[in-house]
Amino acid sequence: MSTRICAIAACCEGGGIGKNGDLPWRLRKELQYFGRMTCRVSQEGRQNAVLMGRKTWDSMPAKMKPLRHRINYVLTKSDLTLPGAITCKSLEEALSDFEKRGDAVETFWVIGGHAAYELAFASASFYRLYLTRIHASYDCDAFLPAIPVDLTSVSDPDVSSEVQEENGIKYHFEVLERPAVFGAKQ
Ligand SMILES: NC(=O)c1ccc[n+]([C@@H]2O[C@H](COP(=O)([O-])OP(=O)(O)OC[C@H]3O[C@@H](n4cnc5c(N)ncnc54)[C@H](OP(=O)(O)O)[C@@H]3O)[C@@H](O)[C@H]2O)c1
Repeated sequence: MSTRICAIAACCEGGGIGKNGDLPWRLRKELQYFGRMTCRVSQEGRQNAVLMGRKTWDSMPAKMKPLRHRINYVLTKSDLTLPGAITCKSLEEALSDFEKRGDAVETFWVIGGHAAYELAFASASFYRLYLTRIHASYDCDAFLPAIPVDLTSVSDPDVSSEVQEENGIKYHFEVLERPAVFGAKQ
């Protein structure tokens, strides 16, 4: 049985996700949504994992690291040691560690940036993209890779279909699913 990979991202018009190693926007409730979704488990005592690129790890404030209540995997080609995180040289290495944890873990989330999303989208185990679309454009230097074309829009009971607004900025949540992942564990 292989893991189903979920990715979660926020992008603005034009597909931008980051600028100068940071998020181009400040949307507190959107960040809370990220926290809620990546911590969500169906059974008490289980944990999810988040996989991120090393630059995304670097971009997080020290007091936020590692992301609480989640196993933190950081993708890097170097031999870095990062307190609170498990470094890995490939998506497969992180998945292999995750799968060894059996029923103690539930959802494997890929949380960016560009390279991590690209690996997730290219994986045969890729299942869902939770995408926040921000109705504004920002100057960005990091972008979401092309979203796989075979995804279809689905609903999730924990995800609002209403347009959200914060600080005068509108955005909405989408859940996009690749239908044909059989016999897999989410
Ligand atoms: N809007 C969003 O949802 C969102 C989400 C996440 C991040 N962001 C933003 O995105 C930006 C950072 O993203 P980014 O795309 O520049 O960088 P990133 O993907 O976070 O990190 C890139 C690093 O990951 C490692 N890496 C990449 N591919 C690898 C592979 N195949 N094998 C092993 N290691 C690999 C390398 O680390 P080494 O150099 O150490 O080898 C590489 O330099 C920031 O601005 C951040 O705020 C936005």
